[in-house]
Amino acid sequence: MKIVIGNLKMNLNSPKERERYLSLLKKELTGQKLINTELILLPSFIHLEAFRKSLSQKVKIGAQNFFFESKGPFTGEISPLMLSNLGCEYALAGHSERRRYFLEKNEEISLKIIAAMKNGIAPILCVGETKVEKENQETLKVISTQLKECLKGVSRTRLEKIVIAYEPVWAIGADITPSPHEIMEAKVLIRKVLVDIFGKKYAELARIIYGGSVNAKNLEAVCLEPEMDGILIGRESLLPHELIKIAKMVNE
Ligand code: PGA
Repeated sequence: MKIVIGNLKMNLNSPKERERYLSLLKKELTGQKLINTELILLPSFIHLEAFRKSLSQKVKIGAQNFFFESKGPFTGEISPLMLSNLGCEYALAGHSERRRYFLEKNEEISLKIIAAMKNGIAPILCVGETKVEKENQETLKVISTQLKECLKGVSRTRLEKIVIAYEPVWAIGADITPSPHEIMEAKVLIRKVLVDIFGKKYAELARIIYGGSVNAKNLEAVCLEPEMDGILIGRESLLPHELIKIAKMVNE
């Protein structure tokens, strides 16, 4: 089963905008059968309930962020327990925008991953190098450290729940993407690190996807050719027509 994840980020600024988005999306989904593809949308927290109520089982919902504690005096935070009670099945952990603007570190991300799984939420762990790290040829080192530190304490029997998104930071919100060969190399490396940590049998269970400037035009090069298990889409997921076009291509 392939996965197509739409990260709506901090968008849809009013109930009206949300309703317009949902109505366009439902129109695009009418009559579509995405048999081989799981479509997952990550709206802002405040829209989660409306998305769940409005969309059929065809679309799963997930969160862009969460805290690692279940409840208590943590003003302003959202717990994974709250998310699972709302029907969330997935949540991002360690997106580069969280690392950059909210200074999230691998140690905290690993706590989040464990907390998500404890609450039945499949974590989507984002890893990837910055432009400078790429120029310094540190890609392999960066990805490998992120994986080792973020997956610390994760039980290998839970690996089938985990999605690893290779998201080179320089390709996010830009209009450039790595070559299919570079993406394939990253995928091989990610799998190798997983094998080193968890052993071959379990490492095969984790899904590895690509994210960063994905659109219908480059889908072949960033997902189909390097044989990824799916994709994480930012900007294009705000356009229901494009999102469903991509999902259909992945599904074929
Ligand atoms: P983008 O975002 O598709 O707009 O580059 C991707 C992401 O942040 O996951």
